[in-house]
Amino acid sequence: MDALSPTPLRDPPLVHGAPIVGSAFDIARDPARFFVNAYRKYGPAFRVKVFNNTYGCIAGVEAANFLTTREGRESLRSKEFWQGLVDEYGASRTLTGVDGDIHQKLRGVMRRGYSREAIAGRYDELVTITDRAIARDWKVGANIPVVTALQYMVVEQLGDILTGAAPLEYVKDIRTNILYILNCLVTRQRPKFLLWDPRYQRAKARVNELGQSMIADMESRAARGELPANLLGDIFRTHQQHPELIPASDLVLTLTGPYVAGLDTVANTTSSFVYRALKHPEVLARVQAEADALFAKPSIDEADLMALQAINGCINETMRLHPIAVAQMRTATKDFDFQGYRMREGEMLFIGTSVPHFMAEYFPDPEKFDIDRYEKPRAEHLRPGVYSPFGRGPHTCLGKTIADMLMPLSMARLFHKLDLELSPPGYVLKTKTAPTPGPSMKFQVKVRGVRK
Ligand code: HEM
Repeated sequence: MDALSPTPLRDPPLVHGAPIVGSAFDIARDPARFFVNAYRKYGPAFRVKVFNNTYGCIAGVEAANFLTTREGRESLRSKEFWQGLVDEYGASRTLTGVDGDIHQKLRGVMRRGYSREAIAGRYDELVTITDRAIARDWKVGANIPVVTALQYMVVEQLGDILTGAAPLEYVKDIRTNILYILNCLVTRQRPKFLLWDPRYQRAKARVNELGQSMIADMESRAARGELPANLLGDIFRTHQQHPELIPASDLVLTLTGPYVAGLDTVANTTSSFVYRALKHPEVLARVQAEADALFAKPSIDEADLMALQAINGCINETMRLHPIAVAQMRTATKDFDFQGYRMREGEMLFIGTSVPHFMAEYFPDPEKFDIDRYEKPRAEHLRPGVYSPFGRGPHTCLGKTIADMLMPLSMARLFHKLDLELSPPGYVLKTKTAPTPGPSMKFQVKVRGVRK
């Protein structure tokens, strides 16, 4: 080869794993740690074997930034990852599983329903809803299963903001439905035959029932010319005017989708927040002081929530160290070059966007829970590609704005109202990875008393 010939592209190295299972158990045990270690050892592109399948992986700031480029958009699609869910609902598509023009159009339909306006002026109402959830599920003296209690809280809040009604009697079914679908069909950490479990079949029928009742409600409102100006109204209006974009077959999935997107993400993140706040007394004191000052006001608004330095710092730091999406899954639409490696058309890829969260190059002393990293002049998260709790590129979380308001409100209210302690007091967090990384479902806190 002469000196002017380009260096030929290499196939990414295979991560050394165990016989037969490959890296399956390492990923299941601690996915964030697995991707960081692999990145350190092999660089920004590698391959992993999980039982009989081999996946490509691109990781680090290089991968996070690649997602936002034109080349990244054109080289990756998300269809295959979500197809199992789409088929299970008998639908033709879902927002997360489409790309390009049609994805843009669907995001356009939903943007207003997920926007800041959807929640503006409703913070006091949300406080009332949050208080109701606290009074119901967080009794003094009791040990509270945190993830479950926060799942109920978020469904109640999202139901109100996005759809105008909280389907509380369906929360358990929505949770079971998501659990099985994500585990067996999306992340595929569990075998498909589990879908025959009668508990799942019952939950599936109930979620379908919920979807059908939402459709019936929208139909009767449309007939009266009273479709609401919220996410559900916008989806249904589009279905009527552009059935090619949202056909009848997609309505159940599209209308119940916000619960799927919001329930596990918010509940797991806020549960990790509860653990972290209780584990670090200096953080707890700042969170409580800020929450007390917030609710000393007669009414709260968006600016008040955005100004919560300690609480938002605690949320940001929680999302850095406990990301609910350690890696995104995509398929290569074509052969493409990444950092000197050749990724192959059709291969399934992990995009390890959370890897930089754990790197001292970007977040000094990365294991330290330091809620002051996010304020200027430090603002460690603002360097391009280093902080991606809400994903990157065209599928970046559409509910981010709502989550950014909902989480500080819920956490401020919970810690304002209640005196909590870990149960048992020295508890060290156990985590789960399926379906969504987060605290174990057994994580409990004890309500010691009412503060305010
Ligand atoms: C802690 C809170 C949340 C986190 C960390 C989070 C994280 C994410 C991530 C990482 C993605 C991208 C997935 C991918 O690229 O494959 C995503 C997408 C999405 N999220 Fe969130 N999310 C949160 C809360 C919410 C909430 C509350 C809602 C709605 C109520 C929501 C709605 C969505 C939707 C609709 C998408 C799909 C966007 C698209 O495919 O174009 N999220 N979220």
